[in-house]
Amino acid sequence: MKNWVQKVREEEKKKGGTVKYCPFRTNYHIMPPVGWLNDPNGLCQFKGIYQTYFQYAPFSVNGGDGFWGHCTSTDLLHWEYHDPVMAPDIPEDRSGVYSGSGLVEGEELTLFYTGNVKLPGDYDYIDAGRISSQMMATTKDGQHMSEKRKLLGPEDYPEHMTEHVRDPKVWKEDGKYRMILGARARAYRKDGTRKDKGCALVYVSEDKQHWDLDQEILPENNFGYMWECPDLFVMEDADEDKKIEILSFCPQGLPTEEGRFQNRYQSGYVLMSQMETIEDDFVEWDMGFDFYAPQTFEDDKGRRILIGWAGVPDTGEEHRNLSVENGWQHCLTIPRELTLQNGKILQEPVHEVESLPWKVENWNGERFFWGKKTVRLTVDNISPEGWRLCVGGPENGATFSVKEKHAELSFLMETGEAAACGGGRKKRTGILEMDVENVEILIDSSIMEIFINGGAMVFTTRIYLKENERELWASKAGKQTLCVL
Ligand code: FRU
Repeated sequence: MKNWVQKVREEEKKKGGTVKYCPFRTNYHIMPPVGWLNDPNGLCQFKGIYQTYFQYAPFSVNGGDGFWGHCTSTDLLHWEYHDPVMAPDIPEDRSGVYSGSGLVEGEELTLFYTGNVKLPGDYDYIDAGRISSQMMATTKDGQHMSEKRKLLGPEDYPEHMTEHVRDPKVWKEDGKYRMILGARARAYRKDGTRKDKGCALVYVSEDKQHWDLDQEILPENNFGYMWECPDLFVMEDADEDKKIEILSFCPQGLPTEEGRFQNRYQSGYVLMSQMETIEDDFVEWDMGFDFYAPQTFEDDKGRRILIGWAGVPDTGEEHRNLSVENGWQHCLTIPRELTLQNGKILQEPVHEVESLPWKVENWNGERFFWGKKTVRLTVDNISPEGWRLCVGGPENGATFSVKEKHAELSFLMETGEAAACGGGRKKRTGILEMDVENVEILIDSSIMEIFINGGAMVFTTRIYLKENERELWASKAGKQTLCVL
């Protein structure tokens, strides 16, 4: 057994007890066994089993260890946790086995990632001070990896790229392998000062080993200074009967607008063939406080499934989540099935959720205490007068309301610990194309996910209620069904 596997096991054993009894642990969302988690990585279905890898820091609740954690499932809801599969143990990835993807071919799974090296010293962090390399490793069982191998490095990137090139997503198309990378291109204003451009690079290969640059997706106008975690995939439009290429990415550095780009960093998509300008056509995946770095994969039923990180980077330690006290932080979103209809992507919780043993409550919006239970609330036939839900008490609670085309999620408290966490949770708004007619809400301990109009808009937030504060009530609306587990 590798030395670091032994050390992680010891850490999980040492801290596991405290973590396990934390009231904020979720029931069916992926969490770190101990410590910190961020991006989902290497999502795939391999030999029939769903594999989720994730950025994992078992030794630090504030991140930074650079491991790939691993869990598997047969239904996307019950996850079995395994040893991490990769650690920063070679020169090319000594500061972190950064995010990447998985490609299944028969009996073999290939994982692609970025090996990150932070150089010691006082560097201008943008242009120097780090080295990125794209790496791969293969596995026959999803758990034990071959030797790591370097595929690309700074010497292969276009001249105008900074050191920020990462997050390879690889797929196979027409007999060739394609890899998309998120990047930061050096760019200047007219007066000569720097105004870097977020962009994506697409490489192509015949054999997974040798890669050539095929395309640079560099927007005409600046749309953020860096793009992380890109994904490029094709979806069939159910209404128009045609295939459309979707580019998903996470731009950093967009200024906040009314009802748009309200988090520290953003995450969304554009339909490549129909795009006029990136800034107008970019649709955010999620309007809530906690969402970033999603990745998609296709399962053996042909579903396009997306999982995101229910968190946002660089929100500062003072904005830590309350679970930190119990030795862990962050979780992933519920897997969402994507469908394309009339040029819009709908995101719904995978239908497996419906087969959980829900018990229907006789409920009409009055105060309901959910305590240790897991909640699923659906509301149909919402009238133009709108609908409003309160979750939790005035100290830590949130209100979600919809009216006509508007949706708003706001936390009641303005000050205090819970208000500050996650970068500050106050108010997020979204404007839909149509009036709000239905809502589905999942609350799993400390995560709440709200799907509006069959997934036309989603709000994800973490919510840290003490068990005795876990109550909800709502205004009357068409048809409300409250289920608990
Ligand atoms: C996004 C990200 C990626 C990087 C990873 C490191 O959250 O910054 O770009 O690969 O996290 O953990």
